[in-house]
Parts: sequence; C-alpha cells; structure tokens
Amino acid sequence: MNRLRTISVIGLGYIGLPTAVVLASRGVSVVGVDINSDVVARINRGEVHIVEPDLDAVTARVVQNGLLRATTSVSEADAFVIAVPTPFHDGKADMAYVKSAAASVAPVLKAGDLVVLESTSPPGTTEAMVVQLAALRPDLKFPGRQDGACDVRVAYCPERVLPGRVLVELVENDRVIGGITPECAARAEELYRIFCTGSLLRTDVRTAEMCKLTENSFRDVGIAFANELSVICEKLGVNVWELIRLANHHPRVNILQPGPGVGGHCIAVDPWFIVAAAPEQARLIRTAREVNDAKPAHVLANIKAAIAGARAAGIRPTVGVLGLAFKADVDDFRESPALQIAEAIASWSNCEVIVSEPHAEALPGRLSGLKHVRMSGDVHELIRESHIVVMLVNHRHYKEISREDLEGKAIIDTRGVWS
Ligand SMILES: NC(=O)c1ccc[n+]([C@@H]2O[C@H](COP(=O)([O-])OP(=O)(O)OC[C@H]3O[C@@H](n4cnc5c(N)ncnc54)[C@H](O)[C@@H]3O)[C@@H](O)[C@H]2O)c1
Repeated sequence: MNRLRTISVIGLGYIGLPTAVVLASRGVSVVGVDINSDVVARINRGEVHIVEPDLDAVTARVVQNGLLRATTSVSEADAFVIAVPTPFHDGKADMAYVKSAAASVAPVLKAGDLVVLESTSPPGTTEAMVVQLAALRPDLKFPGRQDGACDVRVAYCPERVLPGRVLVELVENDRVIGGITPECAARAEELYRIFCTGSLLRTDVRTAEMCKLTENSFRDVGIAFANELSVICEKLGVNVWELIRLANHHPRVNILQPGPGVGGHCIAVDPWFIVAAAPEQARLIRTAREVNDAKPAHVLANIKAAIAGARAAGIRPTVGVLGLAFKADVDDFRESPALQIAEAIASWSNCEVIVSEPHAEALPGRLSGLKHVRMSGDVHELIRESHIVVMLVNHRHYKEISREDLEGKAIIDTRGVWS
C-alpha cells in the first residue's frame, strides 16, 4: 500500500469528511481540501460541521495524531478523491463543482497519481474529466489513449452510505469501481482496500456512474409505489400501513413505506440524471419522481382541510409540526419534503405554527423571522399547545409521544407512527 502514502480528499462534506477521516484512521496521511474556510478551520480544530455518529471523536483523534489536516488549497498527493456537490438545476446536472475541483487538482498532478471521482454524476462525466485534465496538463498522459500509455490513472467510485451509519457503511459496504481502463480500476481498488472490508467490484466507468443512479432510481420507484398506494388508500378508506404490513407477508413482496415525499441529496435528485440523459426512454423513472414530488402537496391539502375544520369551529388553530429533516435522525434538510411542507404552512396566516426539529438550533430557511411561527425543544409542550399535529419525520426523539398524548387533536401522520 506503499504507493498511496498521501491522499487528498477534495470536498469535506457529508461524504468527503468521513472518507478522509476513515482513511486517516488507517494510518494514511490525508490532506482534506475544501473551499469553505470555516469548514477547514473547524476540522483543523478537531471539530466537525455535520452530525454523524462517532465522526466527531474519530476526527478529533486523527487531527490530533497529525494524520488529517485540512486546507483550502490543493497540494501534491499520490491520490485525489473528489467528493464535491453535483446539484440538479433546471433539468440539468450542475457539474461546475466537479469541473472546478478537477481544475484545482490538475496543476499538482504528477506521473503515477490516481484521481477518483466519487460525486454522483451523469454517465460520461469521468471521461469528460479526463479530457479536461488532459487539456490542462498536456505534459502528462491520461488513460484512454490509443497507444495505451498512461501517467495518471482515473476512476469513478460512487458512494452509497446511509446517513447516520456512514462510518460503518463506508467500511463494510461493497463498492463499485469503474476505471477508464482496467488498470485504472485496479489502481483505485488499492485505495479502497485501505479501509473497505466489503467486496470491491471492478467495472468500466460508465457502468459505475450509471450504477449509482440506478440504485437510487430503484428506491425512488419503490417509494413512489408506496406513496401512490397511500393516496389511493386514503380515497378508499383503507389503512395503508396495515395494508403494506399484510401484503409484505407474501414471500416475494416487499413494499416500502410511504411518507410526506422524498428528500435528501440523492434519491430525490439522482433519478433526474437518468431522465436528463435518456428523456424518451426513462418513462417510469420520471413518473416516480413526479409521484413523489406531488406528495407534499397532498399532505398540505390534508392540513388545509384540518385548519378549515378548526376555523369552522371558531378556533384559530395551532399546528404542531414534528420534524424538518429529510429523514429520521439526520440533520440534513436538503430537498426535505418536511421543510417544504413546514414552509408552506408558515406562509399561511390562518394558524399559529410550532415547529420541532431536534437537529436544528434555530428555525431554518424561510421559517425564521415569522411572528406566528416558533420553535419548541419540548415535544410535550408542542403537543399540548397544538390543535393539529403533523408528523413529518419519525425522529427517535418522538417515540416518547403516545397515542394518549394526542387525545382530541387532529392528527396528520405521514409516517404511520400512530396509525
Ligand atoms: N450525502 C450523501 O449521503 C451522499 C451519498 C452518496 C453520494 N453523495 C454524493 O457525493 C457528493 C458530495 O455530496 P456531499 O453530501 O458530501 O456534499 P456536501 O455539500 O456535504 O459537501 C461538499 C463539500 O465540497 C466543498 N466543495 C465544493 N466545491 C469544491 C471545490 N472545488 N474544491 C473543494 N471543495 C469543494 C463544499 O464546500 C462542501 O463542503 C455529491 O455528488 C453527492 O450527490 C452524497
């Protein structure tokens, strides 16, 4: 292992920081690079800027041991792992962060180096990155040349960790490694062998890029089925949670759980990369996105009806909103349907709103600064003071709420916690 003495991780967010920390915990000298100087300063103090079990303790240890250091500028290393954002805007993947990360790596590359892209990307991105690097460094040979000569190996290795279990899954998950050439994949495998105990599955670069998008599209289609069922069941007066529980007793049926929509940086976004790449063919994948994206409006219609019911009885109701994160027990609000729903309720003036989110210190986004919206850290107080209780995120903190606590309240339970 030998050849990879110094590894640079570009982008120290939800993926890059744990990857840097785990590599460093295996004794590799890791330089983490981020354009955000606050993030860099925090990490160099041995602190973390994201909530992830055990990440704070391991980060503090590797920083103290001198195995991880963070910086805002890229320097020489034996391998570069790029984990920068790839948002989706206006029907297109925004590859600006990947391009700028590749541009920052190019000047320090030398023969023998490895570059691995981990950011979720449309098919063809890694090949485009090779073209970009080759243009910036005409003195180096990049993979894919007719003559087979190659100074710098390039691969794509998608990340499939579950927030909340990142440090475990980074190590234990199987990984797909796509090389521009088989030699590139073999070289990248050496890097992942440092910390992965799961199988390392080599393939070509486009299959690896497509694999990540396929996994999340598969999940999205499954959730869309459950969400569609929940809306159908509401119309037909059937308890969807019981229905799914019973149907799942069939030995070959495994229906996922409905919710208020689909959020997060991956499942709500990645299927669009496939739709954008093959718009005519990706009909089911597109429809699943549309079904899931329509669910928050359905939940809001139910809340509106509950408010109208209270107002008809002469009450200006208080709506208690439980959870804003995109899923249980994480502090990530990106693409969160819960946040979207809470912001919509807060934009109405016909109710008071109390919001609970154990992973936020203050009201995020458009929720802050509104007179009729406040945050509460005490769920029992929130329930007591609310006429309408909206369960959006089944954080473990809410397990203490019993059905008796909800006596006499209008309940909109999008997670089936009390159903
Ligand atoms: N978060 C997840 O659970 C998850 C899971 C699988 C895959 N991914 C993918 O991994 C990639 C990274 O996601 P994330 O959640 O870690 O993002 P993030 O926003 O948490 O972190 C990205 C970091 O990159 C930094 N950055 C941006 N441009 C940079 C540059 N040019 N040089 C150095 N740093 C730069 C940002 O300041 C930020 O700190 C995305 O493509 C995402 O789709 C994320």
